[in-house]
Amino acid sequence: MSAYKYVYWFKRIRPNSYKPVILITGCASGIGLELAKVFTRVPNYRVVITARKGSIEKLHSLFPASQNIRVYELDITDDVSRKQVVGKICSEWEGVDILINNAGISYRSVIEHMTSKDESLQMATNYFGPMSLIRAVLPNMRKKGRGKIINISSVSGMLAMPTMSSYSASKAALEGASEALWYEMRPFGIDVSLVQPGFIHSESFKNVRYTERGRQSEDGNDEYSQFYKSMRPFISKLMGLSRTPAESVAQLILLVVQTERPPLWVPAGFGAEFFYYLRRLMPRRLLHPLLFRFLPGVRHWGEGFSRKRKTTFWDL
Ligand SMILES: NC(=O)c1ccc[n+]([C@@H]2O[C@H](COP(=O)([O-])OP(=O)(O)OC[C@H]3O[C@@H](n4cnc5c(N)ncnc54)[C@H](OP(=O)(O)O)[C@@H]3O)[C@@H](O)[C@H]2O)c1
Repeated sequence: MSAYKYVYWFKRIRPNSYKPVILITGCASGIGLELAKVFTRVPNYRVVITARKGSIEKLHSLFPASQNIRVYELDITDDVSRKQVVGKICSEWEGVDILINNAGISYRSVIEHMTSKDESLQMATNYFGPMSLIRAVLPNMRKKGRGKIINISSVSGMLAMPTMSSYSASKAALEGASEALWYEMRPFGIDVSLVQPGFIHSESFKNVRYTERGRQSEDGNDEYSQFYKSMRPFISKLMGLSRTPAESVAQLILLVVQTERPPLWVPAGFGAEFFYYLRRLMPRRLLHPLLFRFLPGVRHWGEGFSRKRKTTFWDL
């Protein structure tokens, strides 16, 4: 992560009297909360900290309103809520200069257990909501001829894993749209970056969502039970082993904000770098069989529920 600091040091923007307005989504916990702490400590910005209703009280007490700080309620999936927040910022501080789309949810579910409602919520939170917010803030940025859109993606946006299809799809969609936006906004002087955390050392895995059938499957003994029983401890172990805390992702995002013309892709942490190069350098024919072999207990997945064809490493 620190490599970013040295590679892009010459592009650091010098602070001046102008205080850009930063809007951060999903500040109730994890990376969002750390972002709120990091940006409120730096006097060069006016910071709008947002979260859903249930966490607003907590954030008001952590970050009392001041000349440079506002705490607003924002549900990223709610059109009215998005319009209200952007409207308030426009009337008070002439609009948003830097948008950090951080809010996100993640389902742990095999595709067969997802419902249309679950898929919609996943996409509304991780893709449609951030896109609508981008549309709401762009006119002001274009007029000013400067601005930054920073979307928090994930390694899952480039490398999918079993039981995380919907999450991966939402992040892949965010990645695709951000790449197109990068081209569209360059002529207007607006930077677009995708920060891609790998596994973060945090308790965020506790916030993962289950579908009704997924929960029953994990607690029971059906054709998918072993998938859930293996993947849940595997992911929490990887997060526990990770040496990248949410705070260092927030520090990296501060550097991205302070960089003139930051890159489109910013991997956050060793895991993100590792999977990035693995995906790009390893031949596809080898990548999936290899990763499949490393999935915990994969030999027993679906065992007893299917007349499974015997496969060897090279058949996959
Ligand atoms: N943790 C990781 O290992 C990891 C890895 C790769 C990418 N990421 C990405 O990093 C971002 C932050 O994740 P995190 O690890 O900090 O997880 P987290 O602790 O679960 O934080 C997610 C935040 O998003 C908020 N949120 C969820 N739905 C929302 C909505 N409809 N409107 C507004 N806010 C909403 C949550 O608020 P509530 O408390 O109200 O639900 C929570 O504060 C996400 O986009 C995630 O996909 C995380």
